[in-house]
Amino acid sequence: MTADYQQFIMQIKRKTGIDLALYKEAQMKRRLESLRDKRGYATFLSYYQALAADSSLFHEFLERMTINVSEFYRNKKRWEVLEEKILPRLLAENSKPKLWSAACSTGEEPYTLAMIMASFMPLSEVSILATDLDKEILKRAQVGFYTDRSLKEVPPGVLSRYFTKELMGYKVSEQVKRSVTFKQQNLLSDSFGTQYDLIICRNVMIYFTEEAKHELYQKFSQALRPGGVLFVGSTEQIFHADQYHFETEDTFFYKKKG
Ligand SMILES: C[S@@+](CC[C@H](N)C(=O)[O-])C[C@H]1O[C@@H](n2cnc3c(N)ncnc32)[C@H](O)[C@@H]1O
Repeated sequence: MTADYQQFIMQIKRKTGIDLALYKEAQMKRRLESLRDKRGYATFLSYYQALAADSSLFHEFLERMTINVSEFYRNKKRWEVLEEKILPRLLAENSKPKLWSAACSTGEEPYTLAMIMASFMPLSEVSILATDLDKEILKRAQVGFYTDRSLKEVPPGVLSRYFTKELMGYKVSEQVKRSVTFKQQNLLSDSFGTQYDLIICRNVMIYFTEEAKHELYQKFSQALRPGGVLFVGSTEQIFHADQYHFETEDTFFYKKKG
């Protein structure tokens, strides 16, 4: 790692608490370098000085490092497994499940979960925690406005029931919104709650180093009740899941052993 980038990592950690060293280096550095070059700074040192003085540059940096792409029913087949196999078991064990969408981005993931939960119980009884590192993205999640790009997998019946058409896209219904509580949280440094029935954490762990992932799996395992499930992204299989007391309940679903 160059001294220039290493110092940048330290400065960002001091300013924000975000530790860029826990993200895969080649990928992260490339992303940040291209943004830095675009803004006309030859070194990370001069780029940091500019970021520290200009909040719009700083927000642009945060936006670039966090990669916020999401969509409703992302990898739809997995959500079908959740609805048809995983949730019926979890609900038979606990009729008031504790649910968490970790790294929820613009909200498509927790809202998808809410819409699926509504086929099991009244939405007014559904309560989902949704967290992300990026405060700005959480504001967008709370607004709940989406364009076609993130809606292409939404079943037609769900679209008509839980969305209203606006000029440029769709808005999620208030009753769905009320079932989700958004909070800012850094998965790599903040503590987690306990006794979760279901934790969904998808398409963020790919950005983390092996060491960071290892710690995170341990924290997720501790946060789940025995029998609870961690639902991961479709490129994020856990190797040697048993070291975290997980067994595979279905592809990309890990059940904490009792
Ligand atoms: C590609 S999105 C995934 C969104 C959603 N889970 C999905 O699969 O569609 C990755 C999200 O991870 C968040 N993120 C990155 N690092 C994080 C961290 N250390 N703690 C919490 N969230 C983080 C980003 O802000 C971004 O919104």
